[in-house]
Amino acid sequence: MQKKTNRRTVLNRIIYLWAAVTSVPIISSIIQFIFPPARAFVGSKVIGTVDEMEPNTGKVVQLGERPVIVITTEAGETIAYGANCTHLGCVVRFREQQGDIYCACHGSVFNLDGHPVSGPANRPLEEIPIKIDNDQISITTT
Ligand code: FES
Repeated sequence: MQKKTNRRTVLNRIIYLWAAVTSVPIISSIIQFIFPPARAFVGSKVIGTVDEMEPNTGKVVQLGERPVIVITTEAGETIAYGANCTHLGCVVRFREQQGDIYCACHGSVFNLDGHPVSGPANRPLEEIPIKIDNDQISITTT
């Protein structure tokens, strides 16, 4: 009797171990689906010339897999941020009349420093460095 119980115990442990080992990739896939890894901005892209960028305008360009919003302020300064809203990731846009950055999904508003001023987003947009060389504006990340 004792020998039969031990055999059952050993078999149960083998089954539990097998279930645990085989479930790791499944659980890992579920976690990556729910919390996808951050996609890095990679590469360099010329987005236009200084003359092309009118003051108080903005546009969204793709850098790698991620959208980047590039804005030329009324004062003529060019700035860029990751265009994914820090609430749930919708792409933001520049509103010329309000002079702010707006997410239409749930109404978050960001100022031109990239900081949220209203809406559900509570973290600033990711700042993207701008480089101006020979009148060409480029965004580069590594
Ligand atoms: S995703 Fe932008 S406010 Fe919700």
